Amino acid sequence: NTGALWGGRFAGGPAEAMAALSKSTHFDWELAPYDIRASKAHSRVLHRAGLLSGADLDAMLDGLDRLAADVDSGEFVPEESDEDVHGALERGLIERVGPEVGGRLRAGRSRNDQVATLFRMWLRDAVRAVAAGVLDVVDALVAQADAHPDTVMPGKTHFQAAQPVLLSHQLLAHAQPLLRDLDRIRDLDRRLAVSPYGSGALAGSSLGLDPDAIAAELGFDRAADNSIDATSSRDFAAEASYVLAQIAVDLSRLAEEIIAWSTPEFGYVTLADEWSTGSSIMPQKKNPDVAELMRGKTGRLIGNLTGLLATLKAQPLAYNRDLQEDKEPVFDSVAQLDLLLPAMAGLVGTLTFHPERLAELAPAGYTLATDIAEWMVRQGVPFRVAHEAAGECVRVAEARGAGLDELDDDELAAIDPALTPEVREVLTVAGSIASRNARGGTAGDAVAVQRNRLGEFRDELAGW
Ligand code: ARG
Repeated sequence: NTGALWGGRFAGGPAEAMAALSKSTHFDWELAPYDIRASKAHSRVLHRAGLLSGADLDAMLDGLDRLAADVDSGEFVPEESDEDVHGALERGLIERVGPEVGGRLRAGRSRNDQVATLFRMWLRDAVRAVAAGVLDVVDALVAQADAHPDTVMPGKTHFQAAQPVLLSHQLLAHAQPLLRDLDRIRDLDRRLAVSPYGSGALAGSSLGLDPDAIAAELGFDRAADNSIDATSSRDFAAEASYVLAQIAVDLSRLAEEIIAWSTPEFGYVTLADEWSTGSSIMPQKKNPDVAELMRGKTGRLIGNLTGLLATLKAQPLAYNRDLQEDKEPVFDSVAQLDLLLPAMAGLVGTLTFHPERLAELAPAGYTLATDIAEWMVRQGVPFRVAHEAAGECVRVAEARGAGLDELDDDELAAIDPALTPEVREVLTVAGSIASRNARGGTAGDAVAVQRNRLGEFRDELAGW
């Protein structure tokens, strides 16, 4: 029988199409190093429970080490007849140490507790690597913010000119959600760090094995409290998919801005040659493909999350084979971010901003109108009245193609007697920005406070 792990009660092997459907080695081979590490821990626990002699333990550990080396070098690979990574590796162990010793390893464990454990181990390493990549993007944003402490730009709402802000404030606004994502990864790891090993197929093990010892050896915080839950829950995988998708969504919003900023119509930034691409027909083109792939692949990561949730939603407890569908979407989300994060860090770090262009556009579209209204409020005018008057300033200025600072004394007084010539003191981009100096505002001092706090949070997360 080709079903190496479950031949006994079957008179014949699986149909060809059954085997093809069942097979998962083309993706779960990713778990092979974790499977072997866990098997070593399991064999020690078997030995301590009196189910494996000292000599057999030594032979088993040696065989597993040799198998690990052969997996690593590519010497040992899955065969056509292997259903999944677990079966393939058992075959490999038996080939190395014989059926008498190799056949003892599987006592007291099932592929159900095994795969749930290995997936958690894999994810703990994977999200740490993702976190390092996110940190590089954060650092690139912060470096650009530090390099442009005084550069002003048009802040937008509804993608329309709203109020002037510091470029550094806008860039740190993209770093903030990424740091929260890193905090989410750190928090997720607390839930990943619970070991299902010892849960068996669903009901636990009768062989006196010690789940806590295995958990400790594999770097988990503790063993799971419920064997049914431990073998059948995948909320940890869905949560990881969410965090990975959220990282992509946060970077996609940045990507969308970079795409707009790099058009000639905006002219905010120039992309570095090494992080852009050309056109096969239009010689003048320089395209923001990194940002577009970021935006495009984000759809894929969202799909991975929603697909996984749909796979989970109607499954009765405990393990069902549907659960084999849990790995590919998560592996894919990690693989896409592995490609995207270094490219986004490179793209952001090499943007050349154009401060003169940004400064020229900062007051365009009457972005200082709010400053007129707030100046009048400081003179004791109710905001309702001030808002109307400032709006009229915009109307009068717009009618004759002038800026707000170009309204003359008579025009101002005609709009509202409270509008004395002193109002012009707030009609500068620098004055507007400097006035928004409370916590969280865009004034230079407030941004400096933000920058320090963000740096502390960054260092805390980097040290995790
Ligand atoms: N390959 C399966 C998975 O990834 C684990 C095997 C469990 N299969 C089973 N028939 N109990 O979920």
